[in-house]
Amino acid sequence: MNVLQVSAEIFPLLKTGGLADIAGALPAALHGAGCDVRVLLPGFAPIMADLQQPQVLTELTAPWGETVRICHGELATLGVQAYVLDVPHLYQRPGTPYEDEQRQPHHDNHRRFALLGWVAAQLACGLDAHWQPAVVHSHDWHAALTSAYLAFGPVRGRMVASVYTVHNLAYQGVFAPIHFYDLGLPPHAFSVNGLEFHGQMSFMKAGLYYADHITTVSPTYAKEIQTPEQGCGLDGLLRERAPELTGILNAVDESVWNPATDSAIPHTFDAKKPVGKARCKAALQQALGLSVKPEALLFGVVSRLTEQKGLHLVLAAVDDLIAQGGQLVVLGTGEAALEAEFSARAARHPESVAVRIGYDEAFAHQIFAATDVTLVPSRFEPCGLTQMYGLKYGSLPLVHKVGGLADTVVDCALEHLADGSANGFVFKEFSAAALQRAVRRAFALHDRPTEWRAVRQRAMQQQLGWDKAAAQYVALYRHLLA
Ligand code: ADP
Ligand code: GLC
Repeated sequence: MNVLQVSAEIFPLLKTGGLADIAGALPAALHGAGCDVRVLLPGFAPIMADLQQPQVLTELTAPWGETVRICHGELATLGVQAYVLDVPHLYQRPGTPYEDEQRQPHHDNHRRFALLGWVAAQLACGLDAHWQPAVVHSHDWHAALTSAYLAFGPVRGRMVASVYTVHNLAYQGVFAPIHFYDLGLPPHAFSVNGLEFHGQMSFMKAGLYYADHITTVSPTYAKEIQTPEQGCGLDGLLRERAPELTGILNAVDESVWNPATDSAIPHTFDAKKPVGKARCKAALQQALGLSVKPEALLFGVVSRLTEQKGLHLVLAAVDDLIAQGGQLVVLGTGEAALEAEFSARAARHPESVAVRIGYDEAFAHQIFAATDVTLVPSRFEPCGLTQMYGLKYGSLPLVHKVGGLADTVVDCALEHLADGSANGFVFKEFSAAALQRAVRRAFALHDRPTEWRAVRQRAMQQQLGWDKAAAQYVALYRHLLA
């Protein structure tokens, strides 16, 4: 089965969050499940640089008159066939893929990402005579217009199914209505039954409305987004589309996240021989100027510093955590206020709190390897990957019971310790007090070293690989094509 994956990011070439991890892991996972996978990506500089022996497939003129050169080649790092939009003035600029250096959205994002969807639809309709997808699978708002262009585009040469995956409903790609007329979609698409959203144009809504099937990245989040509390204004549409909405839990790319083979950490280890983990902890404490105490319970945060992640609850708990003899290491970047608050805590308690503002892939691995507990107190979390990386690296996740966090972490309550399902700490009410109680449970378990080690060993041995999710995606594709 030929599958075209369409996304704006792909690990390890371009990553701003978990979307990239998933887009980077899916091609191999689906290949393992019998699919012939190709990817379509915007021509950001690291992606162009990785493309081996690029051939120009064709040059096309977008509906708004812009010329796009489509290159085809193999991504050296991933060993996957890729189509890339080679339009340097659109994709090769300072800033992030989405924002300029002043953290403002690029002024022409609607065209930059409409182009991605438009070309995906052309490929679905036979643009490459040598390879045509049976399934076009697009991810997040950046690729969401794929389904709309497919719905209105050239007649599909043969059956092509469209799948749209929501990684985060909160980022919607909403633009002023004036831009709609740039995009070459028929006027009636700008309606309630289309991509109109409170008078604006919403790429997210286009994906949700026009895709043959919608998936999201955990079963619990698939339910949550059908409620007004978490539906971001789209819960009505999602309830209507409930029969075509599935939650498929993300997984861990074990070729990247495996403490037994990880070259980014100073000492490797595994569930049976965890001694390297203690060494990683000592090395990190030393490197960051924390007191080098093996017994100090070390908490870690690796996160975008945004409101979604609930980190103000951690700020509220820091003093309590230190008073109990704990330590905290934070790696993150994002909102200036959160950056400043965390940095201030580190300045106040340098022997107990270390904060690094920035984005550092290797350092993230070192934190999971060194810490005892990974904090993920998100207000909402479609899936969340860091709690799963924590599990793999024996850093027990402490999470708010929401979205994919609820689907992956089981609290160390007595009954779960008894039946062997416990793998972390879960709080239900989204409050500092509830997080603090969970932190105390972590200390309490840590005071019983035999039980701590047993929970940690089971956590590290949990099956978190891609096999299950890949099989679910393939079953879905087959169902849609049947
Ligand atoms: P989200 O996609 O909402 O940010 P996820 O938990 O799904 O949340 O994925 C976050 C990914 O980004 C993980 O791979 C995590 O390790 C990584 N990450 C987040 N912040 C940083 C950072 N400052 N440095 C390195 N990696 C980071
Ligand atoms: C989004 C979500 C996160 C999820 C990731 C990958 O960024 O915020 O919860 O893990 O996508 O699906």
